[in-house]
Amino acid sequence: MTTVASSGGVAFVEAAPAKINLYLHVTGRRADGYHCLDSLVVFAGAGDVLHYEPGDAPLTLKLAGRFGAVLDEAAAGPDNLVMKAANALRTLAGPQATVRGGTLVLEKNLPVASGIGGGSADAAAALRLLDRVWNIQAGQVNLLRLAEGLGADVPVCLLSHSARMEGIGEVLGAAPILPECGLVLVNCGQAVSTPAVFRAREGGFVPRAELPTHWDGARELADTLQTLENSLEAPACVLCPTVEKVLSDLATQPECLMARMSGSGATCFGLFPSAHEAEQAAARLADAHEAWWVWGGALREGV
Ligand code: C5P
Repeated sequence: MTTVASSGGVAFVEAAPAKINLYLHVTGRRADGYHCLDSLVVFAGAGDVLHYEPGDAPLTLKLAGRFGAVLDEAAAGPDNLVMKAANALRTLAGPQATVRGGTLVLEKNLPVASGIGGGSADAAAALRLLDRVWNIQAGQVNLLRLAEGLGADVPVCLLSHSARMEGIGEVLGAAPILPECGLVLVNCGQAVSTPAVFRAREGGFVPRAELPTHWDGARELADTLQTLENSLEAPACVLCPTVEKVLSDLATQPECLMARMSGSGATCFGLFPSAHEAEQAAARLADAHEAWWVWGGALREGV
């Protein structure tokens, strides 16, 4: 259980939920090499957690949790997106702002470089948390601008609720109303480099999807998603062939409505009629594959 530390009503802890791309179409490529995307992004109950302990020493970052403990010291250095987010916010606040130092502890519960936005969600959580505890009140427009400078997935992670993502990730619109459904996430343990997957992509571009305003149930959502794709799944399978095994193990679970890879991989998701069925499937998959990271539950409501 997460202990929520607070001072004067300001919580010193922030959730960094995993993002899932229910579909992801590469619709074009910009002159600077970045790809134009069309994606329906949702969030899971699984996530990293960022804690802040105020102090007078300059701000430092410590990594904890299943996937933080195994990273080397450099991973908590100035190149970590959390520290970049803190620095960007401090710069925005200007020299007149009194920002305290202390320690940020990042509980990494999500596998790294895994297509579910771990690092991006961490950076977004840092922006939300430090804006609050430093009392900067930057406002969402400014925070989104900072997020955009930190990475293509950081703006949607700043919102942390389902959204239609376009542009290279910075154009965010309302998602159709989503039905209740269960979700299983599976990662085989192999980190996949996002630039390498984009580079390995072959073929043309895929049109922007036509989406309804809502779905009556998880089955209808799955029916629509089956007509769409993740354009990065095929290249990711070439770089990490275990993705295919993960997808077939997910798809053959009882009640699984569909299985697909999220983002640039290698994490895959399965869609289920309810959280209960997703939890049961997750338990079976975790039993069968001790080395895999498996999570099952419901789609997360917005923060
Ligand atoms: O923005 P971010 O640092 O997360 O992107 C990592 C890499 O993924 C980029 O350097 C680029 O190679 C690729 N990318 C892309 N188009 C996007 C997002 C990322 O080509 N929309």
